[in-house]
Amino acid sequence: MCGIIGYIGNKQARDVVLKGLKRMEYRGYDSAGIALLNGGLHVTKCKGKVKALESLIDSKDEGFVGIGHTRWATHGEPNDVNSHPHTSNSGKIALVHNGIIENFNSLKQKLESEGYSFYSDTDTEVAVKLFESVLDKNPELSLEKAVQLALGQINGAYGFAIVHADFPDRIIVSRKGSPLLIGVGDGEMLIASDASAVAEYTDKVVYLDEGELAVIQKDSYQVLDSNDVELTKEVHELAVSLEEIEKGGFPHFMLKEIFEQPKTISDSLRGRLNPDLGTITLGGLSNVMDKLVNTKRIIIAACGTSWHSALFGEYLFEWLAKISVEVEYASEFRYRDPLINEGDVVFVISQSGETADTLAALRKAKEKGASVYGIVNVVGSSIARETDAGVYLHAGPEIGVASTKAFTGQVTVLTLIAVSLAIHKGVIEKAESDRIINALARIPSQVQSILDRSEQIKNIADLFTYAPNFLYLGRSFSFPVALEGALKLKEISYIHAEGYPAAEMKHGPIALIDDMMPVVVIAATKHTNDKMVSNIEEVKARKGRIISITSEKNQEVKELSEFNFTIPDTEDVLSPLLSVIPLQLLSYYVAVNRGANVDQPRNLAKSVTVE
Ligand code: G6P
Repeated sequence: MCGIIGYIGNKQARDVVLKGLKRMEYRGYDSAGIALLNGGLHVTKCKGKVKALESLIDSKDEGFVGIGHTRWATHGEPNDVNSHPHTSNSGKIALVHNGIIENFNSLKQKLESEGYSFYSDTDTEVAVKLFESVLDKNPELSLEKAVQLALGQINGAYGFAIVHADFPDRIIVSRKGSPLLIGVGDGEMLIASDASAVAEYTDKVVYLDEGELAVIQKDSYQVLDSNDVELTKEVHELAVSLEEIEKGGFPHFMLKEIFEQPKTISDSLRGRLNPDLGTITLGGLSNVMDKLVNTKRIIIAACGTSWHSALFGEYLFEWLAKISVEVEYASEFRYRDPLINEGDVVFVISQSGETADTLAALRKAKEKGASVYGIVNVVGSSIARETDAGVYLHAGPEIGVASTKAFTGQVTVLTLIAVSLAIHKGVIEKAESDRIINALARIPSQVQSILDRSEQIKNIADLFTYAPNFLYLGRSFSFPVALEGALKLKEISYIHAEGYPAAEMKHGPIALIDDMMPVVVIAATKHTNDKMVSNIEEVKARKGRIISITSEKNQEVKELSEFNFTIPDTEDVLSPLLSVIPLQLLSYYVAVNRGANVDQPRNLAKSVTVE
């Protein structure tokens, strides 16, 4: 989620680009860089924040065309050389990139054999050398044609902005999987990965769609599709109220974020999951994959909803990757004297990347010699910066206090890591990994099909709005979902709710069951179905009210339940990504019915920065 900005017009590009980079710094700030055109190409870049870059730039760095970048490293550690922009061997082309080039190794080998030299550890550098090689071979081509031709050879996700000293009247941009927009000004144009970076200069923006390329000039822009056909693009007006834009017409951020999940899960998968090849690429972990493959034990530390994801991670890593896992509440871990053995790996999971206990657990683990990797949503957050490596969720800003899209993002990323590890370790049959990878690719549309039936959940919520207690039961992969469902309800509706392993119910909570008690049963894993059926019978025998969440194929559970919501069929390990959605909706509708402040529940905070 790097930040990209570009400017062409009558102002000093340096000033516009630096300002834009500061606005987008939340997207990543382990390094920053700028390229200016002024009779030639002038690149300044360094490790660190935009402030550090600013101190390297002086008033002599002039020019009316420039591009800039803020980076959170994926391929290659954050250092001066790996910072963007990257330049061609001729020193004439510079580009900034957001995304991951999956086939960078093979491209690099080919380009090296053609005589091009590489200096960084990034995937990005192959792109600039590739553009250069196409131009070297076809000097008659315009910059945009050369870029278009080269893009056909690049697999993966990208948002590119490119400048060339011999074409000083233009910036070329192209996107596939990474956002880019054009800010349309009067006698000036901007490009950016984020509207916040252009809002100061114009309220007119053109959003580029997948596979599009644009030629940006001071007074015009031309957008082409991948077949080189010119497109007429809609010019959008940036509305004044930022909050309004962010809610996108939904009454609450939480509902918007629930409904965003088909997209946010796709975003977590994009550039990483390749169903055609049956492979998974995690750029943020590529340098530490050997360490992960050889580790005997993984510890996962987190808080709140992120802890529920961590628990799911335990089940998943053991099941698929055959690695022993311990899950820790970060707040407990930090005050214990945990035993860390050589080779142990610690994962910390955090939406905000700022939770004080999780940050402290991270530091404690590091102090004790562990390698610590992050699964984080907010780019450039403390946890993202302090971990040795990691994977971002790409779920976008989560504003509702009750976490929804971050949970499914975390579960998605954990699944990618577990399957990838299993493949690297050789402990999974190809047929099984292919099956899971293909099923994972179908999850976003399956989530959409659940959301399309949200009315059914609302009807159930209407019936139980004033229940004083709820019990949530699940086994295996559905147990963390039961905990998460109960937490969602507690957080925003203030109804007491407990999540329990279904069989453990007999050791206490069963005493609470009577004809007033709604019992939400998550019967979503096939391998525990018979046992869940027995648990449902036990609840029914005590007149508990069964609300079940189960696969559309599970006739038996449907018939046993007073209320039922079906989810599409999928692999057991992926079922939490589907079964949690109706539980998020249930808590939302109950809370709304009760008149609660859904987005800002009492006593809670989004980012807990105190212990
Ligand atoms: C707070 C939030 C929860 C979140 C937890 C951990 O309690 O309200 O939604 O799960 O913190 O936050 P993190 O940002 O570390 O995931």
